[in-house]
Amino acid sequence: MSCDFISLSTPGVQDLQPYLPGKPPEELERELGLTDVVKLASNENPLGPSPAALAAIESSLAGISFYPDSGGYRLKQALSAKYSVAPEQVTLGNGSNDVLELIARAYLRPDDEVIYSEYAFVVYSIVTQACGAKAVVTPAKDWGHDLDAMFEALTARTRIIFLANPNNPTGTWVTRGQLTGFLNKIPDSVLVVLDEAYIEYVQESDYPDGLQLVKQYPNLVVTRTFSKAYGLAGLRAGFAVSNEQIANVLSRVRQPFNMNNLALSAAEAALVDDAHISKTVQINTDGMAFYTRELPKIKLEFIPSIGNFITVDFKTDAQPIYQTLLEQGVIVRPLANYGMPHHLRISIGTKSENERCLSALAEVMNNIE
Ligand SMILES: Cc1ncc(COP(=O)(O)O)c(C=O)c1O
Repeated sequence: MSCDFISLSTPGVQDLQPYLPGKPPEELERELGLTDVVKLASNENPLGPSPAALAAIESSLAGISFYPDSGGYRLKQALSAKYSVAPEQVTLGNGSNDVLELIARAYLRPDDEVIYSEYAFVVYSIVTQACGAKAVVTPAKDWGHDLDAMFEALTARTRIIFLANPNNPTGTWVTRGQLTGFLNKIPDSVLVVLDEAYIEYVQESDYPDGLQLVKQYPNLVVTRTFSKAYGLAGLRAGFAVSNEQIANVLSRVRQPFNMNNLALSAAEAALVDDAHISKTVQINTDGMAFYTRELPKIKLEFIPSIGNFITVDFKTDAQPIYQTLLEQGVIVRPLANYGMPHHLRISIGTKSENERCLSALAEVMNNIE
């Protein structure tokens, strides 16, 4: 080629590793000639979307020749009613990933610093690097965010702190007291992005609800998604709640139609389908209890998690184990790109999916012994 198009890209992008998604089931079926593959790799809802969301999609289908409502009026009204925030505080996104990127794009100058923890959700590093900002990665404590270390890392250059609660892929969390103690010390000029992608699953009584803190902390931006408990990962729908000024800034860099017609109507319907969320949470609670009870019986340790996934420590290179599970039609998530080569993350599935995964794991462990 006459030109090196990689070196023409911006310095941050040149060093960027693209996001590694979970392996699609059809790909594994194609590769190994398998049928009946179980995907427990991307923390999706094993029950699927709410029936109300499906009905809303069907009734919106004929409207897809029209552009979506750029302002997302109806969904913002629904979010406003559910969470007691003003519609003007809401930023809609093509998944919460989109919102995380908007925040970085709107606020990061080259050489600004962004703090996040070791083992934090990988998108924080991607959006930081893509903007040419400097990542300041603080060491984890017991696999989770060490808020003291994150506070110590603050400098005059810090513009954003990313905090996932609970974190993916570790499932670790910070308590209400820990979070507010931290927020009290952070200057208003530093945005704290609290990523609550898994909040619907959380049952811990000392877990903080970020939306209740937005009024108190003007620099707090809470992100949430319809991809996990709401079961709409394939549609791409997420949102942020912040003070109105930050929302106004984000709207300036947002693509005008970043949430499509079907996603807008499905999200609006799913938001009020409490029965589907209850079922989803119950399946997850049961599945988590199953793994935490059964994994030790096959001598596997795991990181305690409050999300819809559990991360298992094989104490050895987990890549061959991942491959063996694939051959048995079970897709989980390797974590070498997170610096956790001995771990695999398993999304909690239905009862039969969990049983199938556990028996595949038991067979692997038998063969290791
Ligand atoms: C912690 C966390 N935040 C954000 C996201 C992004 O989800 P989405 O873009 O589907 O809303 C994920 C997805 O895995 C996640 O684990």
